[in-house]
Formats: sequence, structure tokens, C-alpha cells
Amino acid sequence: MMTMRLLKLFPSFMFLLVVYFSSALANSSSSSHPLCFSDESRALLQFRQHFSFDSSASPQWYCKRDAKMVSWKEGTDCCQWDGIACDAITGHVIGLDLSCSLLHGTIYSHNCSLCHLSHLQSLNLAFNNFSNSRIPLCFASFNSLIHLNLSSSSFCGEIPLQLSHLSKLVSLDLSSSAFNASSLERLIHNFTQLRHLDLSGVSINSIIPKSLMNLSSLNYLSLSVCGLKSKFPTDIFHLPNLQYLDVSDNPKLSGKLPEFFNDSSPLRLLYFLFTNFYGEIPNSIGQLKSLETLGLGGSNFSGCIPESLGNNSKLSVLYLTENHFGGEIPSSLWRIETLTDVDLSLNNLTGTIKLDNFSQLTSLYFLDLSYNSLTCFQLFPTNNLWPSLEYLGVNSNKLQGSLGSLPIPSEEIIYYSVANNQLTGEISPSFCNKSHLEFLNLSNNNLRGAIPPCLSNSSRLSVLNLQHNGLVGAIPKMCSHANGIKLETLDLSYNQLQGQLPRSLAHCKLLQLLILGNNMLVDTFPAWLATLPILQVLVLRHNRLYGSIRNSRSEVAFAKLNIIDVSDNNFTGTLPSNYFKSWRSMMANDKNRSNWKFLTMTSEFYYSYNITLIDKGLEMELVKILNTFKVVDLSNNNFRGEIPKSIGQLKALCALNFSNNHLMGSIPTELANLKDLESLDLARNNLSGIIPPELASWTFLEVLNLSHNHLEGPIPRSRQFDTFPNTSYLGNLGLCGFPLSKPCGETEMTLQPSSKLDQTLNSESIIYDFDWKVVKIGYGCGMVVGVIMGNYIYNRKQEAIARFFRIWLDRKGKRLSKRRHGRKQVLVPIFFPFSYCFPFRVLESDFYNV
Ligand SMILES: *[C@@H]1O[C@H](CO)[C@@H](O)[C@H](O)[C@H]1NC(C)=O
Ligand SMILES: *[C@@H]1O[C@H](CO)[C@@H](O)[C@H](O)[C@H]1NC(C)=O
Ligand SMILES: *[C@@H]1O[C@H](CO)[C@@H](O)[C@H](O)[C@H]1NC(C)=O
Ligand SMILES: *[C@@H]1O[C@H](CO)[C@@H](O)[C@H](O)[C@H]1NC(C)=O
Ligand SMILES: *[C@@H]1O[C@H](CO)[C@@H](O)[C@H](O)[C@H]1NC(C)=O
Ligand SMILES: *[C@@H]1O[C@H](CO)[C@@H](O)[C@H](O)[C@H]1NC(C)=O
Ligand SMILES: *[C@@H]1O[C@H](CO)[C@@H](O)[C@H](O)[C@H]1NC(C)=O
Ligand SMILES: *[C@@H]1O[C@H](CO)[C@@H](O)[C@H](O)[C@H]1NC(C)=O
Ligand SMILES: *[C@@H]1O[C@H](CO)[C@@H](O)[C@H](O)[C@H]1NC(C)=O
Ligand SMILES: *[C@@H]1O[C@H](CO)[C@@H](O)[C@H](O)[C@H]1NC(C)=O
Ligand SMILES: *[C@@H]1O[C@H](CO)[C@@H](O)[C@H](O)[C@H]1NC(C)=O
Ligand SMILES: *[C@@H]1O[C@H](CO)[C@@H](O)[C@H](O)[C@H]1NC(C)=O
Repeated sequence: MMTMRLLKLFPSFMFLLVVYFSSALANSSSSSHPLCFSDESRALLQFRQHFSFDSSASPQWYCKRDAKMVSWKEGTDCCQWDGIACDAITGHVIGLDLSCSLLHGTIYSHNCSLCHLSHLQSLNLAFNNFSNSRIPLCFASFNSLIHLNLSSSSFCGEIPLQLSHLSKLVSLDLSSSAFNASSLERLIHNFTQLRHLDLSGVSINSIIPKSLMNLSSLNYLSLSVCGLKSKFPTDIFHLPNLQYLDVSDNPKLSGKLPEFFNDSSPLRLLYFLFTNFYGEIPNSIGQLKSLETLGLGGSNFSGCIPESLGNNSKLSVLYLTENHFGGEIPSSLWRIETLTDVDLSLNNLTGTIKLDNFSQLTSLYFLDLSYNSLTCFQLFPTNNLWPSLEYLGVNSNKLQGSLGSLPIPSEEIIYYSVANNQLTGEISPSFCNKSHLEFLNLSNNNLRGAIPPCLSNSSRLSVLNLQHNGLVGAIPKMCSHANGIKLETLDLSYNQLQGQLPRSLAHCKLLQLLILGNNMLVDTFPAWLATLPILQVLVLRHNRLYGSIRNSRSEVAFAKLNIIDVSDNNFTGTLPSNYFKSWRSMMANDKNRSNWKFLTMTSEFYYSYNITLIDKGLEMELVKILNTFKVVDLSNNNFRGEIPKSIGQLKALCALNFSNNHLMGSIPTELANLKDLESLDLARNNLSGIIPPELASWTFLEVLNLSHNHLEGPIPRSRQFDTFPNTSYLGNLGLCGFPLSKPCGETEMTLQPSSKLDQTLNSESIIYDFDWKVVKIGYGCGMVVGVIMGNYIYNRKQEAIARFFRIWLDRKGKRLSKRRHGRKQVLVPIFFPFSYCFPFRVLESDFYNV
């Protein structure tokens, strides 16, 4: 499965970890050794005593259960215990490795038993939970200490300045704990032997100290997520031994890449993701012969990508996404045989991608060129250019020419998206036999011809999106084969497809979104889809469907449906009142926020889903739909009879549209049960009677259209009703009262807002609570760097703006996409449920300013 593949490709640090510790342990259990000192043995046992072993204490998923302390038995030689290393001559404990030991408890500085281990050379307490303990001061007196590792261990507070006495330190890892280092300058001043310094996640909140320049042995430096400010000292690039440099996620850190003159520079990794670095990549980058990873994404770089990058013959990961790079993609780039992962998306690149016959990208498995202005691929007629490619994203460019002129996807391809271009031609049947293909998005192009019927054989396909093309012919018999039932999303809308809906769709048990609107399908209502267990969206609008929507006998018909749009067809008969009793999902919203999900979230890849719904009189695109958004649209058909009272059961509806039918009778008072309703359109029917005064209790209704019916009597009044214009009521000669000019006399109805919520809404100074979580995920090193939570006060005005921001822009969807290298931020704002229909109100600026 996909997850396994990702694991397989993870950076090799896991492996190194295992090697490191197994060799450390091997040293500790060599056979000829003196017995350990009893005070050290006692101190260790005492230390163990003060902790509980809590399997939730290791926050990292890969920190596998490590029960080192099980072997710690009183009366035995502590030098034999797991995690302990003793000096072969003196017998003193010189190494203590308790990483990943599930320790949970507090270390107190004044009585920490580890203080007795004064001969320690190596101390590793990483990946435990010391519940906000401070670093015991006695650590500063371990004169021989060479390795200190307190990573991800829930220590906190100021790093004691006394640690600066540890002048023999070779590696110091204080990453991903809640440390502050307010005088880093003085702290590191003495560490002249230091080779490995990892302070990622430490609050430094200042400029990078000059004393770093004196750490001439430094090989590895990570200062990511440190709140670094101001200019980055370019001298750091010239530290003679530096191989790994990561200052990502410091949005206030600015600077430029320097010129690189020294062609024996050992630099292998440069990570400047999500910083405020700017300017161009210097031509001299080609001098960095050892460079393997260049990650500059999410910063403010511009200019062209230099041709000289082709000289970096060991380059494997190139991460330039979300900058302002312009100009053409240098062709030299495609000659670097070691490339594995290239992301140039979200830039301003233009022109042609020239792949000549020197392009031997045998290792490339991830290529994302989306959101640029590329116009075409120029290929030499070699067809196996990218034999390892699993992910190809070239969507939202200006690609022209035929689909067939793009590189033929490899056998390994999993994700293929060339949506939003100007591609022509037909869909080749060669897509059918890509046995790993899970995601195929060719939407928004100018493709013609039929959909290859063999696509129904595609065994792993879970998302097929071909919307907005000129495809003709019949819909393939998806899910007709036992091995082809992985389909979760099928979107063929906005084409010219004909014929019936294939009955095989009833076997797509994982289908969640079925979008076939705006075609020329001729069929009756697919009642046979009613048993699909998780179908959430059914859009059949604007086809030539006919007949009555027969009342279902089943109690569970379409039970998970959130959105049904069969508008603009030729359905007849009465409204399907029994269905209104079986659409369970529309009857209530889950109060538990953690169950609110985007409809696409279960899919292997997060992707943007482009559905068009008519709501509030506007054709709107919902790019990310939350499962609290519930809609029934049966408009523009030939439905007759009355509106059934059972409509009142669909209490969670956000929008209801029965307009342009032949409905008669009165508006049922049960409609007032639909408390979340934001849009109601009953226009152009033959409805009569009064507008039920109960409807005045609606609080969220923004759009009301009752025009062109035979309604009469007074229009109800309430804060909400008073906002509707007179066009909401046009063509009903018997209606009177505000906003119409025709008065009602004595009988005018006023229903003052009474609910508490409504009163709250009236107050201009309203403050909405919400809490947000920013989860920064560093895939590069495979661990969660930090979770920040905070409170935020949101004012009424912002709310009003945000109210209309109902799409989760594609860019954001992209940010959520699975990546194997580099870091991506995921912002999950959770608002107090102001309205279930759109509880997520996210402004683009919120997203980028964090
Ligand atoms: C194990 O011992 C050998 C020889 O004493 C030494 O070179 C090596 O660095 C030690 N390994 C660890 C992980 O301490
Ligand atoms: C250290 O002192 C604290 C009280 O300050 C006490 O709760 C704890 O048990 C002591 N720990 C040890 C190892 O003696
Ligand atoms: C550490 O333990 C404390 C309780 O002592 C808990 O609140 C906290 O969430 C734990 N931290 C992690 C990272 O598990
Ligand atoms: C550097 O270490 C020496 C001892 O090795 C110590 O005397 C001195 O105070 C240390 N300097 C700082 C700035 O901590
Ligand atoms: C610190 O320990 C953790 C867990 O064992 C390990 O992943 C990390 O690489 C160590 N840091 C250093 C600098 O060795
Ligand atoms: C430590 O850093 C945090 C986060 O920047 C800050 O809120 C806190 O005040 C700092 N504490 C000290 C003692 O500087
Ligand atoms: C760097 O080291 C030199 C010589 O050891 C010393 O004079 C200088 O003050 C140090 N600079 C910093 C910024 O620590
Ligand atoms: C170039 O870098 C190497 C390795 O860091 C170093 O030994 C050499 O002195 C540098 N040469 C110059 C001219 O800076
Ligand atoms: C990005 O860099 C340009 C200079 O290249 C600068 O003018 C602009 O202010 C920078 N943008 C931000 C957000 O810092
Ligand atoms: C993209 O490039 C065009 C012209 O090359 C320029 O007009 C436009 O401002 C650029 N856009 C961005 C976002 O840099
Ligand atoms: C709709 O159906 C009716 C009869 O059921 C038929 O007379 C009419 O022509 C159909 N309209 C369209 C546009 O197919
Ligand atoms: C959605 O489809 C429309 C075409 O109707 C297109 O213009 C728009 O860019 C698409 N949106 C996304 C986010 O793909």
C-alpha cells in the first residue's frame, strides 16, 4: 500500500539511528570489564524509581518501544545493563542511553540522581516525557561530556548558561523541546569541538550569534523554528566543515545566498524553507559539488533557476516551490541523473521543458511543476524517460498540444495530474494498464473522444477526474471487475457524455463522490445506488434524466448523502418524500468537531475537488467541501404535488432548492425545523397560502426566493427577514408588508428575535472564540517539529468577510499533499460552531501569516 511505499522511501536516518545505538550497546556488553561502582549503580536504580513507564510518553511514532530498563536489576553489574556503557579501564559509567524509554515524570535539579554519574561522556534522554523539567545544573559539571541529547523529551525553560563549560561537546541535540536560549552567543562560545548542533524548536528569538563562526568543526547545524530574526550571516556558508545547514521555518530571517567560490565546499544540504530569504540563486551554486539537497521553498526567491545547477551532479532533492522564480526551467537540470524529488510548483516559470536525449532521470519519483506558466514539453522520442516516476503534477499551467505529447507515465505512476491546461487529443488507453495508478486528473482541458472503456479495469484507481473537457460516448463500466472497486471519486461533469449510467457503479462500495452533471445522459433516477454505504455527493444536474424519483422502500437509502443535485433534468411525479425520511446524514450534524472532515480526506492524496453548485443565486465552486455542508437541489424539473412535511426532518440542510417546478399547496411549517438553512429557493412554482410566521426564527438564512408563486398575507418580520429585498417576493400578488410597498394594515406580523443566538448576532462587538493548532510537520527528518496552540480573538467584521470565504483554496489543498521531503505546514483553525454549514472560515492571509 501507499503508506508502505512512503516508509520505504524515508530518509536513511532511521537506519543510521539503529546502527548508532546497536554499536553503542555492543560496546557496553563487551566481556572483559571491571564491575561498576556501587554508588553509580544505586544512582541509576534510584533514577528509574522516580518514573512511570507510560507508552504515550514517547511522542514520536517511530520511537519503538524500548524497554532498556527491564535489565536493570539490583545486585547485578550495572555495566551489563542495557543503555549503560562503562569505561573499560576505570569501570565508571561513561554512557547512558535512555532514549525512547517511555519515561514519564519530573527531573528535579536539586536531587537528580543522575548527578552522581560525573564521568558521563555520552548522555541521551531523547524521546521521553520529563513533563517540563529544567535541565539539572549538575549536567554542566560533567567535564567529560561529549554527546548530550535531550531531543523531544518535554524539557523546557532557559538552557543554563553553565552548560557552556562543556567545552568537549561534540554533539548537542536540544531539538523539539521547549527550550529558550536567550544568550546563545555565550552558551556556544566555548564549543570549539562541536560537530553536530541541533537547536530546532528552541526559542532563540534573536539574530544568529557571531560566535557560531568560531565553531569551525561544525558539520551539522539546524536552527529551524527558532524565531530567528534579521539577516543571516553569510559567513556560515563558509564554515570549512559544514555539510548540513537547516534554518527553515524562520519567517523573519532574511538574507541572500552568497557566491560560492570554493569548489571543495563540503555542503550537502541547504534548507531555507519558509524563511524570508530573497534574491537569486547565484550561478556559482554550481560550485557546490557535494550538494544533494537544496530546499528553498516557501521563501521570497526570484530570478531564474541558473543553468549551472546542472553542475551539481549529486543533486537529489530540489525544492523550490512557492517562490517567484521566473524564466524558462533550465534544460541542464534534467541531466542530473541523481534527481529523485523535484518540486518547482507555485512559481512563475514559463516556456518549454526541454528533455533531450541526455535526460536520464532514472531515479526521479516525484516531479511537481504545477502552478506555473509552462507551455509545453519538448521531448526527444525516447519513451522511458522517467522509469521510477510515481508522482507527476503539471496542473494549472498553460500546456498546449496533445495529451499524448506529454511524457508517457511510467509503470510506477501513482499520481498523475495535468488538470487546468489547454491539452487536446484523446485519452490514451495506456492509462488503463498502469497497475499502481490511484489518482488521475485530466480535468479542465480540451480533450476529445471517448473515455477508454478499459479504465474500468484499473485496479487501484481511486480518483478519476475528467471534468470540463469535450469527452463523448458512454461512461465506462466502472467497478465491473472485482479488482476495480477502489473508486472513491468519479467526476465526469461538464462533458458531452451520452447514454445511461452504468449499473456497475452500484458495486463501487467506496464511492463517496459521484459527479456526472452537465452531460447528455438519458436515464431514470439511479435508485440502485441507494445502498452505496458511503456515498456523500451525488450530482446529476443538467442531463436528460426523466421519470419519477421513486419513493424508496428502504430505510437506509442514501443514508450518508450530504449533497444531492439533480436539478435541470426532466424528472416528474411528486417530490420523493420517503427519501426525505432516509437521508440520515442530512438530519443532524455531528457535534464532535473531530468528525468534521473535508469530503476528500479519506483519499490517499488530498486534492482539490471542483464542484459547481448553484447556491444563493451564484454558481459557486466548492473546492474543499466539509461534511457539514448539506444541500438538496431538485430545481428545474417537472415535479408536481405538495412539498411533503417530511422535508422538516432534514434538519441539517444548508441549502434547499425546489424552484422552477409545478409544486402546489402551502409552504409546510415544518421547514422552520431547518435551523441551519442559509438558502431557500421555492421560486416559480404554484405555492399558495401564507408564509408560515414560524420561519421568522431562522437565523442564518441569507438568501430567500419565494417569487412567482401565489402566496398571500403578511411577510413575517425578524432581523433576518428584514434583510431580504422585495425581489424575494415578486410575482405574489397577495403578499403584503415590508419590504413590499403594499401595507397589510393591522395584521402585520412581527416576530422579534428571541433566541439567545440571535441576540448575540445582533451585537456588533461580538467576539468569536476559536482555537487553532498549527502543526508543523518536518518530513525531511520524519518528525513533528512542534505543535503550537493558541487562542485568537476574532471580531465581527472579520467574521463578515470570512463568511463568504467558503472555499479552501486549491493552494491550501496542495499544502496538505503528501510529501516525502521538505516541510509542509498544516493549519487547522477550528472555530466555535457559528454555523455548521461553514464552520471553517479561513482567510488566505491567515494561512500565510502564521
Ligand atoms: C565502540 O567502541 C569502539 C572502540 O572502543 C569505538 O571506536 C566506538 O566509537 C564505540 N562506539 C560507540 C557508539 O561508542
Ligand atoms: C526530589 O525532590 C522532590 C521534591 O522537591 C521530590 O518530590 C522527589 O521525590 C525527589 N526526587 C528524588 C529522586 O529524590
Ligand atoms: C507529557 O506529560 C504531560 C503530563 O505530565 C502531558 O500533559 C503532556 O502532554 C505530555 N507530553 C507529551 C509530548 O506527550
Ligand atoms: C569556557 O570554558 C572554560 C573552562 O573550560 C570556563 O572557564 C569558561 O568560563 C567557559 N566560558 C564560558 C563563556 O562559559
Ligand atoms: C538524539 O537521539 C535521537 C533519538 O535516539 C536521535 O534520533 C537523534 O539523532 C539524536 N541526536 C544526535 C545528534 O545524535
Ligand atoms: C521562552 O520562549 C517563549 C516562547 O517564545 C516565551 O513565551 C517565554 O517568555 C520565554 N521564556 C523566557 C524565560 O524567556
Ligand atoms: C572567536 O575566536 C577567537 C579566537 O579564539 C576570539 O578571539 C574571538 O573573540 C571569537 N569570536 C567570537 C564571536 O566568539
Ligand atoms: C575550500 O574548502 C575546503 C574544505 O572546506 C577548505 O579546506 C579550503 O581551505 C577552502 N579553500 C578556500 C580557498 O577557502
Ligand atoms: C521579497 O523580496 C523583494 C526583493 O527581491 C522585496 O522587495 C520584498 O519586500 C520581499 N518580500 C517580502 C514579503 O519580504
Ligand atoms: C510573472 O512573470 C510575469 C512576466 O514574466 C510578470 O509580469 C509577473 O508579475 C510575474 N508574477 C509573479 C507572481 O512574479
Ligand atoms: C420531459 O418529459 C415530458 C413527458 O414526461 C416530455 O413531454 C418532454 O418532452 C420532456 N422534455 C425534455 C426536454 O426532454
Ligand atoms: C474549477 O473549474 C473551473 C472551470 O469551471 C476552473 O476555471 C477553475 O480554475 C477550477 N478551479 C480549481 C481550483 O481547479
